[in-house]
Order: sequence, then C-alpha cells, then structure tokens
Amino acid sequence: MSGTGGAVSAYPAEYARWRAAPEDFWRQAAGALQWSRRPGVVCDRTREPFIRWFPDGELNACHNAVDRHVEAGRGEQLALLHVSAMTGAEQRFTFAQLRAEVARLAGALRELGVERGDRVVIYMPMVPEAVFAMLACARLGAVHSVVFGGFAARELAVRIDDAQPKVVLSASCGLEPNRVIDYKDLLDRALQLSQHAPRACVILQRPQLTAPLQTGRDLDWRACLAATQHDADCVPVNATDPLYILYTSGTTGKPKGVVRDTGGYCVALAYSMSAVYGARAGEVFWAASDIGWVVGHSYIVYGPLLHGCATLMFEGKPVGTPDAGTYWRIVERYRVATLFTAPTAIRAIKREDPEGLLMRASDTSSLRALFLAGERADPDTVNWAGAQLGKPVIDHWWQTETGWPVVANCLGLGLLPTRVGSPTKPVPGFEVCVLDDRGVELPRGTQGALALRLPLAPGSLPTLWNNDAGFLQSYLERWPGYYATGDGGYIDADGYVYVLGRTDDVINVAGHRLSTGELEQALSGHAEVAECAVIGVSDALKGTVPVGLVVRKAGAATPPTELQAQLVRRVRDEVGPVAAFQRCYIVARLPKTRSGKILRGTMRRIADGVPYETPATIEDPLVLDEIARALRP
Ligand code: COA
Ligand code: AMP
Repeated sequence: MSGTGGAVSAYPAEYARWRAAPEDFWRQAAGALQWSRRPGVVCDRTREPFIRWFPDGELNACHNAVDRHVEAGRGEQLALLHVSAMTGAEQRFTFAQLRAEVARLAGALRELGVERGDRVVIYMPMVPEAVFAMLACARLGAVHSVVFGGFAARELAVRIDDAQPKVVLSASCGLEPNRVIDYKDLLDRALQLSQHAPRACVILQRPQLTAPLQTGRDLDWRACLAATQHDADCVPVNATDPLYILYTSGTTGKPKGVVRDTGGYCVALAYSMSAVYGARAGEVFWAASDIGWVVGHSYIVYGPLLHGCATLMFEGKPVGTPDAGTYWRIVERYRVATLFTAPTAIRAIKREDPEGLLMRASDTSSLRALFLAGERADPDTVNWAGAQLGKPVIDHWWQTETGWPVVANCLGLGLLPTRVGSPTKPVPGFEVCVLDDRGVELPRGTQGALALRLPLAPGSLPTLWNNDAGFLQSYLERWPGYYATGDGGYIDADGYVYVLGRTDDVINVAGHRLSTGELEQALSGHAEVAECAVIGVSDALKGTVPVGLVVRKAGAATPPTELQAQLVRRVRDEVGPVAAFQRCYIVARLPKTRSGKILRGTMRRIADGVPYETPATIEDPLVLDEIARALRP
C-alpha cells in the first residue's frame, strides 16, 4: 500500500449507497441539473439490453452548461479561457459572453436549416469557436459530431457519410509546431470522397491561412454570423435524445459512432465533477486534450461548464511550444485547480525537464491534483509527477464508450490509499468484473477480460449511431449481462482494479486511440502489398507506436526502401499524421497458425524484446526468426 488518502474516504459508503439503491442514487444526482420536465422514471430497462436513462425527462444541455449560470446571477464569472501557445493569444469569455456567442451561432445554424435531431460535423482546431459550435448544436437539439484534426480526409469522409450532416463547421487551418494544417483542403478532399453532401460548410478564416470558399456551398463564418437575424434560444429535448456522435476506433477498419444521450450524460458528468474530480464551481479546470476526443467532449466542454467551472482550452503541446514549462506557467497564470492530461504528455515533459526545474520555476500551488487517463499510466511517470508537484497524481480508467471515468480514486469523496499500477476502484455507477473466455466471473487476483455489469451507468453509450446490431455485436453479445470493455486486467483481493491493456486490435498512440485494422486497410490498398499486419510496439514516449510488416506481391517491382517510404506516406495520407506510423518492414512471410490466423501477439513480444513462446499451432516456426531479424536487426 502506498500514496495518499485513507482513513476518512467517503468512497466505501458512497459506493455502497449506489449498490443498494441505484435508481435513488441517480435520481438524487439528477437534481444537480435544471430540467424543463423532471424525470419520473430513472432507468427504463424494458428493452434490455438497450437501456434508457430518465426517459420521460426533458432538458437542454446548453441551458445547463451556460444559460443556467447566467440566470443564477453568475453571468460575469469566467466560463472559457482560451490560451494558444501557437499564436501567443489569450481570450476570456464570461458565462454571459459565452451565451451571446453560442446563441448567435445557433441562430446562424438555424437559419441554415439546422433543426433538432439534425447532424452537424465539426472539424476544427482548438479555437474557442469550436466550443461555441458544440454548444450551439446542443442549444438547438442538433447532434454534433466532432472529428479530430489529425485525421486524414478519408477518415473525415467516412464519418461524414455515416453521420450525414446538414452542415459542416470548419476552419481554414490548424496550427502544429512544424506547420500550418490546411483544414479546408482536407475538408474539400473529404467531401470529394464522401457520398453525402452537406447543405453548407461554414468556414472560420484564421489569419495564418485564408481558405478559398466554394460558391454555393461554403460560407464565411463571420459573415454568416453578421447576417444572422435572430439569436436562438435553447430547445428542450428528451433526455434520451442524442447530444452527439463521437467516432472511435474499433477492431475493424470502420470507426464506431458512439452515441451520447443528453440527460444521462449531463447527470453523470455533473456527478463526476464533484465526486471524481473534487472540483468546485468558479475554479479553473484544465483538460489538456483536444475537443476531437472524448476527454475534450466531457472535460473541456460539458463537464466543467455544467459544474460552473471556467474551462481552459489550450492550443499547443506540452513540449516545444516553446518548452516543457508551458503547462506549469499556465497553471500559475490562470490558477488552475485541476489538470487532466495523458501520461504521454507528462513523459514528454519529464524527458525535457527531468529535474523539474521548469516546473518549479512556476507557482503550481493552485493545483489540487493531476489526473491522468487515455492510456496506461506507468508508475515511473506517476511517481515522478507526484514527487515533483507534491500533489496527488490520479490515474483513472475509462473509454470513449463510457463517456466518464469507470475506475478512479475519487478525489471528491476522499482519496483511498493508492496502489502502484492501479487506477484504484470502480466509480459509483459501475461494477467491474473479470471474465474468462466463456463469460464466467474469475476470482480476485486472476487475470481475464475486464467487463462491466449491465446496466451501464448513465452517460455511457446507449447504442451506436444507426447501428443497434453493431452495438450488440461489439459490446454485449459476447457475454450476456455484461459490457465487454476490450481491456484485460484483474482485481486484487481488496477490490483494486488493474488494467493491463487491450485484448483486441485497438492501440493507443500518445493517448490517441487507433485500430490496427484501420492501418492495415491503408497498407493493403497499395498495389504491391499481398498481405500485411500492423502491431502496437512499446515506445518510451508515446506508450505504443504502430509497426507494419508487409509481404509483397510476386513480381512487385518497387525497391524495398522506396516501397517502405510509399507505405509510410500512404498511412499518413489515408489515416492521418496522428497515427505516427514510421516503421514498416518488408518480410517474406507472416507468422500464422495452421488455421491462417496471423500471430500478432507473438510478433509484438518479439518487437518489445520480451520472452515469447512459439505457439504450438504455428504453421512454420522458422518464420518467427525472420520476423525477429526484421524487427530487431
Ligand atoms: N491537427 C493536425 N495534425 C495533428 C493534430 C491536429 N489536431 N494533432 C496532431 N497532429 C499531427 C502532429 O503535427 C504530428 O505530425 P508530424 O508527424 O508531422 O509531426 C502527428 O499528428 C503526431 O502528433 P502528436 O501525437 O501530437 O505527436 P507529437 O510527436 O507532435 O507530440 C506529444 C508528442 C507527446 C507531445 C503529444 O503526443 C501529446 O501532447 N500527447 C498528449 C495527447 C493527448 O492529450 N491525448 C488526448 C487523450 S487525454
Ligand atoms: P479512448 O476511447 O480513446 O478513451 O481509449 C480508451 C482506452 O484507452 C481504454 O480501453 C484503455 O485501453 C486505454 N486507457 C484509458 N485510460 C487508461 C488508464 N488509466 N489505464 C490504462 N489504460 C487506459
């Protein structure tokens, strides 16, 4: 046992309270929101395994995140702080100013024909307008789908075709340390690839790059706002109406459209802000992530604002913009109380500033805790950050699908003692189980698949967009009564959960979730590739990086080094730079079982340099030697 916390934690009692009467628990939590119709029913299980939370409730997420605070007399309080390390600019918006921006943009969208239930794709860099865009959709009851900027045009096209947006909101460019990203060009190329054509694209022109606008389709963001006749009020929607779709990588090449309902999500986020994060209204909450990920949706936009915090939105990197002291200077300048980032970011900072000199050059005393999620938090990183900051470093485990933390050391309930390598215990609302292949619950201490007992907590996905069958197939059918998380792990004798990593083809690259299937699809599209495999290999900075192994078609003429370069470029063009795909090897054969299954796990162990056993079912054991020579020359 190590770390902070212990004696006075209210966690055991709170978890027991939820277990004893979950509906009472969530009814009470729902009281944190303003409803235009209070829900009578808490959890509708009549169509199990499809669950509906607060089915007869009616509310508006934007009202709860913004207008409610203005109406309560907190209009002058800070709501959104935008800090750009790329331009040096800083912008501040009070709740009243945020309401004005959002109401105007919602009015513009309505005048473009966007109504409740319509989809709007948002493909934007980390600028305040992206937050206005999300909230403006919520205001109208429209469903936003934010696409991360680091994805390539083809990925954007797939999402546009699936979500069928009436309008796309985008910007002329994003700013990365080494280059200006032409978002508009990526959007134009995506729209050439997609079957679906939106009615309009509204483009925010940034000073770093002016995008050409296509007559009849593209509109200038500012001109559009200036021409708007009426601001829009909040449209009450059913608690079960979708608030957004967020695409995430699954085991296949096709991303899954995770649907988020409105009521359950807002209730869960509001609860998490106090119970998990221990945040207080009026404080500055900083999730150093991107609005394209679930962390951005839940803890840059909705969570902090619902709770009445000021949310800090940061355009930049933890290192190199300009140095590894950036985060700490921001903490000092804006008196940040909660910082949430991915372990990769801390590893990057630690690498540049191992002694913590840049950290100590700033006053970080405002910080209550540092939260880490998105990938495994290695003990070295956690210990280093804890020792340097002198504050609790809290690892917590969750996924795009769950929408909010599943396992955490709940700061707001009083910390439990920490255990190295464990994100601690299930958050009230979730019951974590470890199952064997047949779905039998395993005893404490035994490793297996991490699953959640149904029903999932409010805020978790009710289904996949237009794909109930896919939802059942991906998550619920394997083990009836449970949701399959895709992660493996175990629970120790005292109930601490340990997450050991994905058991499927999902990999986490610098906290970004990718599917190896998606990368393989890009590789196998090359005319000279006969077959290929992509594996996630350990990396000191990014946690995992993808590595490709490719078998050429007979008669392929391109020299191997040229082919490798073409394949690296191809993944960058088709999936996006965020895949960080740089290593690709040409091999004569791939190791397979006699039934033809590629032995990815064994290759991963070879690449990581850890001991491996030659599987009994292998077709030809000699292939492993060839792979080892390629991966570890
Ligand atoms: N738009 C366009 N391109 C983007 C992008 C965006 N929004 N975000 C990243 N990219 C590009 C980068 O420019 C980079 O391209 P390059 O190959 O030309 O250099 C590539 O995608 C990989 O980016 P990134 O993952 O940011 O790696 P990096 O090497 O630039 O920086 C870290 C390394 C560790 C500093 C960075 O990964 C990081 O900050 N990680 C934290 C991630 C995080 O917060 N995840 C959210 C989960 S909580
Ligand atoms: P995403 O949907 O992008 O949030 O990625 C979710 C996946 O990231 C999980 O299924 C885990 O594999 C991994 N992950 C997230 N948080 C943690 C954590 N704290 N520890 C270990 N793995 C994590």
